[in-house]
Amino acid sequence: MCGIVGYIGEFNALMASMEGLQNLEYRGYDSAGVAFDKNNSIQIYKTKGRVRDLKLKLQETHASLSIGHTRWATHGEANDINAHPHSSRDGRFVLVHNGIIENYQRLKLMYVKEYPFISQTDTEVIVQLIEYFSKEMTVPESIRKTMSLLEGSYACLILDREHLDRIYFIKDKSPLLIGKSTLGMSFSSDITGLMDYANEYMILEDKSFGVVTAKEIELYDVIGLKLSLDFKPISIKKEDIDKHTYTHYMLKEIHEQPMMVRNLIDRYFIKDEVNISKRLLHQIRQSDKINFVACGSSMYASYYAKYYFEKLCGIPCEVFCASELVYSTPLITKRPFFIFFSQSGETADCIAVMKKCKKQGYPTLTITNTKESSMVHLSKYYLDLYAGKEIAVASTKAYTAMIVVSAILARAVHMSKTNIKNNLKAVSLAMEKVLENEEVYKGIAKEIKDSSDAFFIGRGMDYWTSLEAALKLKEIAYIHTEAFPSGELKHGPIALIHKDTPVLAIITQEGTNRITRSNLMETASRGAKTFVISTKDLASLDDDIILPNVAHYLSGLISALVVQLIAYYAALYKNNDIDKPKNLAKSVTVE
Ligand code: F6R
Repeated sequence: MCGIVGYIGEFNALMASMEGLQNLEYRGYDSAGVAFDKNNSIQIYKTKGRVRDLKLKLQETHASLSIGHTRWATHGEANDINAHPHSSRDGRFVLVHNGIIENYQRLKLMYVKEYPFISQTDTEVIVQLIEYFSKEMTVPESIRKTMSLLEGSYACLILDREHLDRIYFIKDKSPLLIGKSTLGMSFSSDITGLMDYANEYMILEDKSFGVVTAKEIELYDVIGLKLSLDFKPISIKKEDIDKHTYTHYMLKEIHEQPMMVRNLIDRYFIKDEVNISKRLLHQIRQSDKINFVACGSSMYASYYAKYYFEKLCGIPCEVFCASELVYSTPLITKRPFFIFFSQSGETADCIAVMKKCKKQGYPTLTITNTKESSMVHLSKYYLDLYAGKEIAVASTKAYTAMIVVSAILARAVHMSKTNIKNNLKAVSLAMEKVLENEEVYKGIAKEIKDSSDAFFIGRGMDYWTSLEAALKLKEIAYIHTEAFPSGELKHGPIALIHKDTPVLAIITQEGTNRITRSNLMETASRGAKTFVISTKDLASLDDDIILPNVAHYLSGLISALVVQLIAYYAALYKNNDIDKPKNLAKSVTVE
């Protein structure tokens, strides 16, 4: 949610920030803004809308430092005024912020109630407080004093009109990275905002504060003790986020899934043996329960992981929705193990749970697509999804990669001889076949795109895929879609079925084939427009989509592609902004 960038150095800082913002836009795209130096003053440009709208407002100029922001609105609607950067009453300080200040109203009343507040944001209070304290303190002191009062989450970059040779920063709970090159320093909420202007990066710790010039970085903790710098090389490259000839990132990412599976085989197998840290495997084996923690699609992938670990390893498992777990106190066993799934590695709900785990000394593993992320930084163990950067807001290849890595990990924990490697190779080929049939998915998408409601049904694994399918259709095609275990319909939801309501059944498991078909018939009898997605061995002649067979426990990897494509084409026919659906953001960095 929201992305912030900054640059100071020999390149044109305004261009550096604009390019950084373009790369970060998937984090929030309600409004955008930049501030930069010009003739010893600070210029601010901001607008409701996208980075492209901001570009239209700007004139070419050279700047030596700049900060920028792309917003996902939390406090105050998306408009020009609430867009960042925000400036202090006297215009001396200018700031961009990612996060939420929970006590902003109290701080306003306590310190700056006479100040004119222009926006409805929680952010503006930060910059006003800095100005307020700077009347009696040095600037670093006033920033640190402000920081000590803030409750919530923040990553902020601050410019001072009186010192246009430096950028100040503060950080707690929201992500912030510093990038470094011989020609300048940069900031970004994630690695993609750094890659054009830095070759090394460092993830900042919570409650850190500092200042950078074009050549130097000073980094302190909250009480002012100097912290050491720990930079790592940046490995992501521009071509990693290129859309190539695809019309949307989402379509590209769907098509990358066969390659993703092959890549995971290469990364995690040495011949036929799984190559994963022995310490990690040992610690999972020692645990008496695995707790999976995630949100959204990543949570739906966790259901597969639970199945693999329970079936193969005999370890009891539970799936938790991270945002619920933060505020509940479930019974924790004597030797718990926590596995977090997150494509971004920045999900605030997961981070909040992880911090609690850390306090209790529980072992944690993060399985993510973003190794330069806060969750990797915080957790004891880490496994990479190696799916390549996912840019489209709706997760596709990261979701299926989570299922693949779970299966590989469970196999390694169990030391079983299951021929998962060959099974995964077959999945990769089957995925390629599925991608050849786009005309069929387009046909279904056309039939359902104008429906106000739709349903996916299935049992067991097919129900978990249904959850993901419903989420995809909701988030990009804006169709109200629910997923149900097929047996549950008659316990209430079937009342919602009326003439032509689309009901899509996913049938990939032999044991539940007949019963799910009966449940689908029950909806057809009440007027539903029904569709069947089944595997070849279970197919009836008039099924709509017939999937190639793969090992039954991996069939969710194949059906996932189909439901992703149906959602994609339904959204396309509705002319929706597929890669940046309304109200959403790729990294959910607020609780
Ligand atoms: C849906 C989607 C979201 C994310 C959820 C968790 O397409 O992408 O539901 O799965 O916001 O995000 P991560 O995986 O980054 O923790």
